[in-house]
Amino acid sequence: MRIAVVGTGHVGLPTAVSLAHLGHVVVACDSDSEKVAELAAGRTPFYEEGLDDLLQAELGAGRLRFTTELAGAVAGAVVAFICVGTPPRASGAANLLALERVAEQIAKAATNDLVVVGKSTVPTGTAERLAETLARHGNGAAFTVVSSPEFLREGRAVEDSLSPSRIVIGSDSPGGFAVMREVYAPLIDAGVAYIETDIRTAELAKHACNAFLSLKISYANALARICELSGADVVAVADIMGSDPRIGRAHLDAGLGYGGYCFPKDLAAFSRLVGELGYAMPLLDEVARLNDEAVEACVAKVRDALWNLEDKRIALLGLSFKPGTDDVRFSPALALAARLLAEGARVVGYDPKAMAAATAEVGALQTAPDLYAALEGAHCAVVATDWPEFKDLDLAKAKELMAFPIVVDGRNAFDPAAMAEAGFTYYPTGRPVVKPGFRRA
Ligand code: UGA
Repeated sequence: MRIAVVGTGHVGLPTAVSLAHLGHVVVACDSDSEKVAELAAGRTPFYEEGLDDLLQAELGAGRLRFTTELAGAVAGAVVAFICVGTPPRASGAANLLALERVAEQIAKAATNDLVVVGKSTVPTGTAERLAETLARHGNGAAFTVVSSPEFLREGRAVEDSLSPSRIVIGSDSPGGFAVMREVYAPLIDAGVAYIETDIRTAELAKHACNAFLSLKISYANALARICELSGADVVAVADIMGSDPRIGRAHLDAGLGYGGYCFPKDLAAFSRLVGELGYAMPLLDEVARLNDEAVEACVAKVRDALWNLEDKRIALLGLSFKPGTDDVRFSPALALAARLLAEGARVVGYDPKAMAAATAEVGALQTAPDLYAALEGAHCAVVATDWPEFKDLDLAKAKELMAFPIVVDGRNAFDPAAMAEAGFTYYPTGRPVVKPGFRRA
């Protein structure tokens, strides 16, 4: 099937590549000509495990092509996926201008009847606006709008695109459902859960999922504060909670809180939408407040460890919003860096992938070429993102390099007993602080 994908960001690119992998002929378009040139040469503009290989394979197989010309991508296509960004406005509402502009261009470029699929996270009711815009600007072609919210995670985009937890298709047209079943036939045949529903439900379900996952994280972070006050261990509490299948262990890791380009903005947009619908759900605002509190709790630990922060050197381990990506948008690590810098500390960051993006965002942040260089002379190390390689840290070497052997672990990356045995003063999250010589009973 001929498919157009508009937008080649963190959702659009994995979508285009995986649709090509499923056997479709895909033309992906983006207005950024430099990005298109890089993609056409087989280079991804951001780090995503396995995406380069798949991109190169699909380019080589001739099933995937990139262009800056939306009209060229849409002409002759049976389906057009819209994967453009929906950034937050100052009010928190999603800015849907890019969506409207793309719909207008698609309407003008369509040479035949077209199924237009919205993949961007949008307030419920957006598909109707899309349909209206397509009809206003079209010149004879019939448009069927489908909402198919994306559930892929950054860092696992390839895996989530090719083996998704579920595919959700919202439509009010039997024809729309039929075409989408063809698009996803290989995944449906492979047994992937496939849910057909109405458009508004599909749109709302995406916000409901992201808000609920954010809620789980903030709940875990509130528990962390309570555990710190009571002497309990939040990791063990989360394990016990997670062993109940009605709760589930996922997204119950207490830490610095959630970041990235999805949860913070989707929560704000959902809260705004709820208000516009005439309902109030202060729970959503509380989730966001608890998330901000998680960073503050970490700053308080650094202060507790170092007293005054002026001129103290702090090694910040991990800068991306989570491991497995170079994305620093709404990264809690950078929020923490900004807070520490504001208190006069010298912050030296290290991240396996996100150093360039992080310094572009926080100019005063220094970086070190490797983990040990970051630790050299540090009065304290703070784990902000739990990259797996941090677990392999040579603790004896780290202690030797640091000015003071103090670690504030914002992601519970280390074993408290091992830290104490290695001679560190160790501040985990939601677990008792341990001092050198401590041995677990
Ligand atoms: C999230 C959702 O998980 C995807 O299903 C969704 O498609 C995507 O948003 C989106 O709307 O596009 P993503 O932002 O890639 O995906 O990352 P997650 O793995 O969900 O993590 C989000 C944030 O929560 C990260 O900062 C992570 O460190 C944090 N987190 C996650 C915790 O603090 N604790 C946890 O237990 C889990």
